[in-house]
Amino acid sequence: MTTIEPETSGASATAAAAPGAAPADAPRTTPAERPSDGEHLLSTRDVSVLYGDNRALKPTTLDFDAGTVTALIGPSGCGKSTFLRCINMMNREIPHCRVEGHIWYGGVDVNAPDTDLYEVRRRIGMVFQQPNPFNKSIYDNIAFAPRRHGVKGRKQLDQLVEESLRGAALWDEVKDDLHKSGRALSGGQQQRLCIARTLALHPDVILMDEPCSALDPIATLAIEQTVRDIVATGICVIIVTHNMEQAARVSDRTAFFYLGEMVETGPTAHLMKMPKDQRLSDYLTGRFS
Ligand SMILES: Nc1ncnc2c1ncn2[C@@H]1O[C@H](COP(=O)(O)OP(=O)(O)O)[C@@H](O)[C@H]1O
Ligand SMILES: [Mg+2]
Repeated sequence: MTTIEPETSGASATAAAAPGAAPADAPRTTPAERPSDGEHLLSTRDVSVLYGDNRALKPTTLDFDAGTVTALIGPSGCGKSTFLRCINMMNREIPHCRVEGHIWYGGVDVNAPDTDLYEVRRRIGMVFQQPNPFNKSIYDNIAFAPRRHGVKGRKQLDQLVEESLRGAALWDEVKDDLHKSGRALSGGQQQRLCIARTLALHPDVILMDEPCSALDPIATLAIEQTVRDIVATGICVIIVTHNMEQAARVSDRTAFFYLGEMVETGPTAHLMKMPKDQRLSDYLTGRFS
């Protein structure tokens, strides 16, 4: 597994300056095996998004570190998903959508036209709001992508399946039913299966867009615990949530979005206790939701 040792631990300040530039001869299209551009695992610099002529996200500068969870919070329609989708280039699937700015990851700006999307999405996985397991067995849900990436040996695949399901805290519940359909699981188990599916590719970053909004409170707590277990292995998680209690429970840092603008960011406990911006303060006190 690609192990990222964060060069800075825990919280990171959001700096306006660009992170150290990649060496001039660095490959432009494929992130390097380890991040080579200094402090942060992933950094966005003035990332903004237009749908046609409508600027849905103003220039957004944020840093993300290995082994941390960042929560993206704010009212609906404020650009959280739009920003999240930039990070693994998913906005490219949307016609008339244009992403401006820089996304520094693994020593290169992955927001370049010639980026190897396949490689970026292997390293930066995504979990969606609705659990979406393939219509395949639990085993094949996990093994599908590694097989496509060339992992062929049965023993190796068996190991990968077990390791990924353990990583998503699902192994004990399904180890005797690996050939049952992934879609036969409960909603919370399906979501953990989707997390296991991303873990099988040994990602550096997992993006989660409101992963618990379709789940009951017990399944939600299980996902939150899984998130904490995953980041303890050095993975970086970026999670959109409209649930502030969830942000408080699960995240190290929080970024608040409002009307297409990333208004304020900081360590979660501090930001929630002492918001600087009136809009964040109003949001936290429930003046709008
Ligand atoms: N595919 C799309 N095409 C056009 N506009 C979009 C698209 N997706 C989102 N938007 C617009 O971008 C803005 C931000 O949306 P979104 O990122 O989904 O917000 P959030 O995740 O915070 O609820 C909204 O005004 C929304 O209507
Ligand atoms: Mg959204």
